[in-house]
Amino acid sequence: MRIGIIGAMDEEIALYVEAMEQTTQTVKAGITYYAGVMEGKEVVLCKSGVGKVNAAVTTQILIDQFQVDRVIFTGVAGAVHPDLNIGDIVVSTDCVQHDIDVSPLGFAPGQIPFTEQWIWSANSDLIQQAIDAGKELDAGVQVVSGRILSGDQFVASREKVQWLHEQFQALCTEMEGASVGQVCAMNGIPFVVVRSMSDKADGSAHVNFTEFTKLASERSYAIVRNMLKAT
Ligand code: ADE
Repeated sequence: MRIGIIGAMDEEIALYVEAMEQTTQTVKAGITYYAGVMEGKEVVLCKSGVGKVNAAVTTQILIDQFQVDRVIFTGVAGAVHPDLNIGDIVVSTDCVQHDIDVSPLGFAPGQIPFTEQWIWSANSDLIQQAIDAGKELDAGVQVVSGRILSGDQFVASREKVQWLHEQFQALCTEMEGASVGQVCAMNGIPFVVVRSMSDKADGSAHVNFTEFTKLASERSYAIVRNMLKAT
């Protein structure tokens, strides 16, 4: 079994780079892929860069060139559900692209036109493994599962975040997960997204993101490391 692990930014993959052993590096399409071993498991780690196109290309390369059997996305997100706090964890049950909008042609926001498929379900075993791994975190940290939104937008307004919550019944928003989910689904590869909240996607999001990305990245890493250890 070979596991692909993707983060979008340096902070989100730094702890993995430190923890991995027997690492070899390969550059493809400008992205560095670190193949090696972590917690006794064969892993290919990479930093996709931010946004859905980067994440999609990276995921397809992980599948085609590195033959990963499953993909875990690790990193930070903006909380959309009002009960979530900075540092809390969301495990994806499914992912939706919130910024695709063909509503003038009668499609729902988020719907990819002319297809029934636009909600990308994560793998139930990986979801359960992530939730179980979360039980080992400090008691104060909420670990919940639910819908994760992705869009090529850093969401930083109360109105927008309320709309996202009402429209999509989502828990958090970020910029890559749904494109990873779509590419995995197109290739029949199981995936899960594990995100820790760096901000609340409101008017303070830019300040909080800067302050809490390191903490949130550590939390997401702790869960994924526990998942690898336990499986
Ligand atoms: N990642 C972390 N916080 C985010 C936000 N507010 N919007 C989009 N992506 C994010």
